[in-house]
Amino acid sequence: MSPHRVPIVAIDGPAGAGKSTVARQLARRLGFTMVDTGAIYRTLALAARRANIDWDDDEGLRRLLDDGFSLQFVAPPPDAPSEAQRVLLRGHDVTEAIRTPEISRGASVVSARAVVRERLLELQRSLGRGAATGAVLEGRDIGTVVFPDAEVKFFLTAGDEARARRRHSELTEKGIEIPLAEVLADQQRRDRADSERALSPLKAAEDALLVDTTGMELDAVIERCVQLARGRLN
Ligand code: DC
Repeated sequence: MSPHRVPIVAIDGPAGAGKSTVARQLARRLGFTMVDTGAIYRTLALAARRANIDWDDDEGLRRLLDDGFSLQFVAPPPDAPSEAQRVLLRGHDVTEAIRTPEISRGASVVSARAVVRERLLELQRSLGRGAATGAVLEGRDIGTVVFPDAEVKFFLTAGDEARARRRHSELTEKGIEIPLAEVLADQQRRDRADSERALSPLKAAEDALLVDTTGMELDAVIERCVQLARGRLN
């Protein structure tokens, strides 16, 4: 490890396993920057939709990435550290716009394209390495591809139903009414696509700490991960 490298914590796992909440709280407790890499793929899917570019149009996506896909993460204010970070696309706040079921599907499609993964790899690495004290990166291939030498790697999982129920209550809180069965079916389709794709499929790194969050309160998961991360970082 080079003397100037900041520590990296990788959190991978399927949708709804609790990654975002755990990553946010872990970053806060460790004093690290959080990077939600799924938000990057989501923002690209939104930018493509707005530019009338199909999610599987490699040429169109290449153009979009090369000519000004300018994305920024804004940390929550110090007096509300638990709030989600804001995501800006060309200076405009898209934090909520990237969380719709349609954009979830788009993110799953664009994230399977080689041109997208190649171009976004460096962005993710520089967001991690550029952090002041350390970074918690959340995604699907952080511990396997983006930072295979991360100091700490977690792989969070949970049963299908438990994950769908979490997603369903998140959507309901936001006023998006979708039957639980539909959330579950959508999630299973995305899990399949994310795990079976040829490029950087979702899988646990060999040296990842496996945490099954089924039936666990997320607060307990956070405590467990903070202890494990501190142990590894010291
Ligand atoms: O974590 P999320 O639901 O916001 O991710 C959106 C999509 O992006 C999801 O289909 C998986 C994909 N993704 C990925 O392929 N690699 C990552 N590191 C993060 C997300």
